[in-house]
Amino acid sequence: MNTINRVAVIGLGYIGLPTAAILATNGVEVIGVDVNQRTVDAVNAGQVPFVEPDLGVHVAGAVSQGNLSASTLTPQAEAYIVAVPTPFREDRSADLSYIESAARGIAPQLQGGELLILESTSPPGATEHMANYILNLRPDLSLDGADSKPAILVAHCPERVLPGRVMIELVTNDRIVGGMTAEAAETAKHLYAVFCQGEILTTDAVTAEMAKLVENSYRDVNIAFANELSVISDKLGIDVWELIRLANHHPRVNILQPGPGVGGHCIAVDPWFIVAAAPEESRLIRTAREVNDAKPEWVFQQVVASLESLPATAEVSVLGLAFKANIDDLRESPAIEIAAHLAEALSDRRINVAEPHVEELPKQLAGRNNVELVSIEESVKRSDVVVVLVDHDDVKAISPELLAGKIVIDTRGALTREPTPAAAAV
Ligand SMILES: NC(=O)c1ccc[n+]([C@@H]2O[C@H](COP(=O)([O-])OP(=O)(O)OC[C@H]3O[C@@H](n4cnc5c(N)ncnc54)[C@H](O)[C@@H]3O)[C@@H](O)[C@H]2O)c1
Repeated sequence: MNTINRVAVIGLGYIGLPTAAILATNGVEVIGVDVNQRTVDAVNAGQVPFVEPDLGVHVAGAVSQGNLSASTLTPQAEAYIVAVPTPFREDRSADLSYIESAARGIAPQLQGGELLILESTSPPGATEHMANYILNLRPDLSLDGADSKPAILVAHCPERVLPGRVMIELVTNDRIVGGMTAEAAETAKHLYAVFCQGEILTTDAVTAEMAKLVENSYRDVNIAFANELSVISDKLGIDVWELIRLANHHPRVNILQPGPGVGGHCIAVDPWFIVAAAPEESRLIRTAREVNDAKPEWVFQQVVASLESLPATAEVSVLGLAFKANIDDLRESPAIEIAAHLAEALSDRRINVAEPHVEELPKQLAGRNNVELVSIEESVKRSDVVVVLVDHDDVKAISPELLAGKIVIDTRGALTREPTPAAAAV
């Protein structure tokens, strides 16, 4: 199999840029493509426009070696990796317009023989949709060389890296590569082997799409169980953290930790792709989503109830906005949903928001007179009710003295939770 020397990565976000950088630092010529000129300029200057440990070193190194550059235009390449967003629409069906837009950029550059990999998390059938979309634009090409038309090799390779550990997990995680043809899967496997030391497992495209969705749904269902336990425990006057810690001493029980809800670009989104594909059959997956989506409102109600006995001047500390600990990613964050709801419903109270990983308030909170972004210490000092929404290390380090006399609503158990034998990050 020929070595692939020149790769275009379409979409230079949390997934595309690390993939571009790791290929480039392994000697492949990589052109990153993004519609955002600021992202393109940052990468060409050897900089990273978001926070991800070790990524900066890789990007700066690859750019200075001349192996990584960025552009708003899709170039000719031997392989294309598409890592654009796949959000859901109002009706929770997947929005494939970003993939279609990337495909429109790639189609005119193809000559036949190229490898096209969809890395975006995709509903079942999205890889086939991308392939057909390109073949509609390029009827002179085929997927398998039929009618003597040159073939393009189309595959899906879902990404399962953990934000905050992306540069490590890109190398060490096992990968699933699903091809529209067996040759496409094998060729994609060959490309990932450039940097991936994990096992690379081949299958067909739709199974690879479902594998990623199923992994995240598995997490979602298990988190929903923990979240439901936290609500039940509150009703029964039980400490849910102690309950889970004790139950996890059973050798075959591993309950996850509850939180204020489920956020992020993956776990809160991907199960809906399965529900949309098989609505009648996905009863548990749908219910888990609903349980997790209901948790922010439950937390909000707890905060409102805690303020009932306090004077009108009592202030609220909101600790953390990110969707999980020690990252700056605010997407689909339940913490923002709760903070925004508090800010709106308690317009006569000060809401002191602390999020050490961002420099400014997100749009849901910006411009509100009663909301201010301050340090963790300042937020706690000023407030009578402290709402812990993210278990950042900086939040866990708050001294008990600072919290003395305050009402603490700790949705993560960040200030009280003892490590459990099977503690798993949510
Ligand atoms: N972030 C994660 O942890 C994670 C993990 C696994 C899978 N995924 C999946 O990977 C995909 C990408 O996610 P992300 O987190 O990198 O998103 P992101 O928003 O960080 O990055 C996407 C990038 O694509 C660019 N873009 C949009 N349309 C484009 C186009 N037509 N051409 C070129 N660039 C375009 C955007 O400007 C942005 O820079 C999604 O499907 C997501 O579900 C993300």
